[in-house]
Amino acid sequence: MNTLMRRAQQLRLWRTYCIKQSAVAGTEVASRGKPSYEEFIGSRHQQAQRSIVVQVSSERSYTELYNYCSRFGRIVIAQHYCVPHEDELHYMLLEYASAGEAAAAINSSAYNAELGSSGSGVPVRSPFLWFRAAASGRRGLAKLAANQHPLPLATIDGTRPPTHEQLQQLLRGAESIEQQILKLYEHTRLNDLGVRMRFLAALQVQQAISGMFPDALAQPFGSSVNGFGKMGCDLDLILRFDGETTITDGQEMSANEPSRLIYHTKENMSNGRSQTQRQMECIGDLLHLFLPGVCHVRRILQARVPIIKYHHEHLNLEVDLSMSNLTGFYMSELLYMFGELDPRVRPLTFSIRRWAQSCGLTNPSPGRWISNFSLTCLVMYFLQQLRQPILPAIGALVKAANASDVRITEDGINCTFARDTDRLGFRSRNTSNLSELLLQFFEFYSQFDFHNRAISLNEGRALTKPDHSAMYIANPLEQLLNVSKNVSLEECERLRIEVRNAAWMLESEVENSTLPESERQDQSWGLLNLFKHPEKSVIRPNMFFKPRMVEVSDLFDKSQAATTASPPVSYKSAT
Ligand code: CTP
Ligand code: MG
Repeated sequence: MNTLMRRAQQLRLWRTYCIKQSAVAGTEVASRGKPSYEEFIGSRHQQAQRSIVVQVSSERSYTELYNYCSRFGRIVIAQHYCVPHEDELHYMLLEYASAGEAAAAINSSAYNAELGSSGSGVPVRSPFLWFRAAASGRRGLAKLAANQHPLPLATIDGTRPPTHEQLQQLLRGAESIEQQILKLYEHTRLNDLGVRMRFLAALQVQQAISGMFPDALAQPFGSSVNGFGKMGCDLDLILRFDGETTITDGQEMSANEPSRLIYHTKENMSNGRSQTQRQMECIGDLLHLFLPGVCHVRRILQARVPIIKYHHEHLNLEVDLSMSNLTGFYMSELLYMFGELDPRVRPLTFSIRRWAQSCGLTNPSPGRWISNFSLTCLVMYFLQQLRQPILPAIGALVKAANASDVRITEDGINCTFARDTDRLGFRSRNTSNLSELLLQFFEFYSQFDFHNRAISLNEGRALTKPDHSAMYIANPLEQLLNVSKNVSLEECERLRIEVRNAAWMLESEVENSTLPESERQDQSWGLLNLFKHPEKSVIRPNMFFKPRMVEVSDLFDKSQAATTASPPVSYKSAT
């Protein structure tokens, strides 16, 4: 059997497996407690198929909307959210008991004929609807119907994280640094509504092209699904024309009996990359011209992974859509599994990401600074290399894989690793609490030899750096690629200085952790000191020495010197 046929067969097996997993997800997840990544993705995808989003004039429309929409089926969840605009725009997300009931509600919807043919907009079917006021003669009927008792409405701010002030207040009220870390995680992580919105955005794209590509699949990946996403995070979306068949309740597969009827297809271009770019250009136009809610479409087609960026105005969401980044999807699975393995992993990563953001090490736009993803890899590696590891090396997951774990992407990248971590028999004996781990993280990286060493999450140890990149983190699924290739020498040095400052600051915080409650309420303490704005963080009144200013020119000479913990320094950034 040639390689292509083998790959095609593996893909078919994978699709069958995926559909079976997703079909049972709804029941299995509930019975087993902890869903696997595929179960989680499958059940959220089905949930999106059971859901609609309706724009209303205000929260007060709920009873009327509930009663109107109940005629199509049983509503099991109702959530209200607002999107900032000139005035706030109000939306209700309704989940029905089945996909058929949601489809009935969507099918009953009409185009807005009242606006007249010139202004009625492009007539496109989607789960995004609006609820118009009842005609005057029908108002009485609507009022009568309003006597029924609807489900309690959950009002959730799924689109905006707490403000800086709200977070300060929250963290001040904690009892310990450990509790601050947990509070930060609980109050800033992507909530249920945020996940629902992201799967609805994916479904909208998938449904839009399903006429021409019935096997199309639009799947969220990255921080929207790996459990490391914060409220308001972007949605990373991968669109494949030949993904799994759309999952519907009770759907059966006949994979054992290959069909003798074969589709005629258009010929592929000889250059796969240009073909993807051309197709993405076309998808970009389709999104821009036809999909309700989609606006500010930008095409970034020359990047290593070409993407289309857009904003979804009904979800207040930024989306990055790609068509050739399946390893990113499986990488998200690895991170999801790591997050599930130990309850300390995600809260710790949240604190570190927040710290990096507050001292300007990370930035929402891509550049020569460290990305959240690379930073997360640094945390994962730190947890692997501890004397009592909290996470296993990825190599151990690869060794424990069986036939059901085989995943090979279309371009032949092997993403096979054990999906069931129980098979690994890995149990951490590490008993450190979150504040100890946070301090150890900063100490570890203030001494890490970025100049000579590369980080391997596969081996769980540092290797000799294969090139001159300032920071080298081998991509676990494409090991010849460096995840942090973009990081400049200067930014790497900034990271080293900031981790050293943070270690120094946190050490004194841990020592002063017995502050009386009254003082804790009034003062900045613990994480709050870590999260100070960079300009402010240079001068720390509780320090007993004067911070030393380091010029950027000094940094390059001393880039190899940091081997022992030393007092914090501040820097003048050249950026
Ligand atoms: N990814 C990857 N290799 C890279 C960059 C990204 O495999 N060099 C994958 C990871 O699975 C990552 C996902 O693509 O989670 C999305 O990348 P990105 O949006 O940069 O990171 P997120 O983890 O989504 O974090 P953020 O919240 O900052 O978007
Ligand atoms: Mg992302």
